[in-house]
Amino acid sequence: MTMYLNKEEQAMLNGEQGEVVQQAMEILVALGNLYGADKLIPVKSAHCAGLSLKSHGIAGMEWAEDMARKGGKVRVPTTMNVVGVDRSRDLGLPDDWVEHQLRIENAYEAMGCFGTSSCVPYHYGFLPKFGEHIAWAESSAVVFTNSVIGARDNREGGPSAWAAGITGRTPNYGFHLDENRLGDILFDVQVDLKDIADYGALGNYVGKMVGEKIPVFKNIDKPTTDDLVYFSAALASAGGVGMFHAIGVTPEAQTLEQAFGGKEYETIIIDEEKLSQGYKNLTSGKSKEVDYVALGCPHFSLNQIKEVADLLEGKKVKDGVTLWVHTNIPTKALAKELGYLDIIEEAGGILTQDLCTVLSIPEALGFKTLATNSAKMGFYAPGGNTLNTWFGDVDSCIQAALTGTWDV
Ligand code: F3S
Repeated sequence: MTMYLNKEEQAMLNGEQGEVVQQAMEILVALGNLYGADKLIPVKSAHCAGLSLKSHGIAGMEWAEDMARKGGKVRVPTTMNVVGVDRSRDLGLPDDWVEHQLRIENAYEAMGCFGTSSCVPYHYGFLPKFGEHIAWAESSAVVFTNSVIGARDNREGGPSAWAAGITGRTPNYGFHLDENRLGDILFDVQVDLKDIADYGALGNYVGKMVGEKIPVFKNIDKPTTDDLVYFSAALASAGGVGMFHAIGVTPEAQTLEQAFGGKEYETIIIDEEKLSQGYKNLTSGKSKEVDYVALGCPHFSLNQIKEVADLLEGKKVKDGVTLWVHTNIPTKALAKELGYLDIIEEAGGILTQDLCTVLSIPEALGFKTLATNSAKMGFYAPGGNTLNTWFGDVDSCIQAALTGTWDV
């Protein structure tokens, strides 16, 4: 079946609104035809990802600059995902890396994208509504917006999210349709989830098991928003999960009946052994000597930054250990205003802006062994950053920063 285009969309595809819009429309039409979409639907916002030099490469950078030079402009609010540099300071990353990365950011900004790069735009003003159609790339944000907010979003790639920003449209398939949002497998959680590390370990264990299916969780009673952000990231990275339900917690799953819509399902019990398997999956550390501690994946909220500031107040990061706490420009500005930034930096840590470990190259600074409280970083850093990795709660990570030792 070929996707239906209305008159305006056909004109866009024919190049009547310029070459950039035509390219964007070609991407969406190819995608829509591939997935059997019946038509394009309007989106309220887009989130471009894959903006790290690691993902774009030099060819992608030149393509983005070409699109900007040819007058490409987004027509719905469009945000940018995390990049590999911090524009506010010199972190010692190689000059050519910094230069090329900044050119990518600048090109997207020239096309009208908002000038802060982060995986949590819902923390600073870009909060979708329930039922709203959006086109966000960045898998952790896709899972969060679909599941916790009840917005409708597919796991967009960088090009398709950009194309949605340029055209204001996305193909109507996948999670935009009611029938694709029902649960597949029930997980009965019979352990107490204490913090985001526990949510991360559970997300990793289940994500690995379900692939692209929709897991439904029972007995997850009182997660915080931060817990759910980290849970989303863990599920998205370990598997191809695009959404989950938690009974009584997420808006489309107030009951089991609502979550499954009458479908048959299997039930898997989550006990301590399975949770600890999640922790083991995320730990590749051999030496207990830690030289790099990275927190904030997804980017930390103000609340999480305050927690770190409280743990560091009056203390010093050990000589030879680097502590990076990742967040974005708006949250960093608030942290500065409220004094948390000063506490972290007086202790010897760095509150980075718009960068993250996974999408940057901290390994170029010689780090060997990482401690993190992020299940997503724990999943990617061993392969992507060649770092031996210890995964645990935020207290353990700060202890590692203060002592240079993983002692859990
Ligand atoms: Fe965000 Fe980077 Fe982690 S994009 S989710 S901080 S890998």
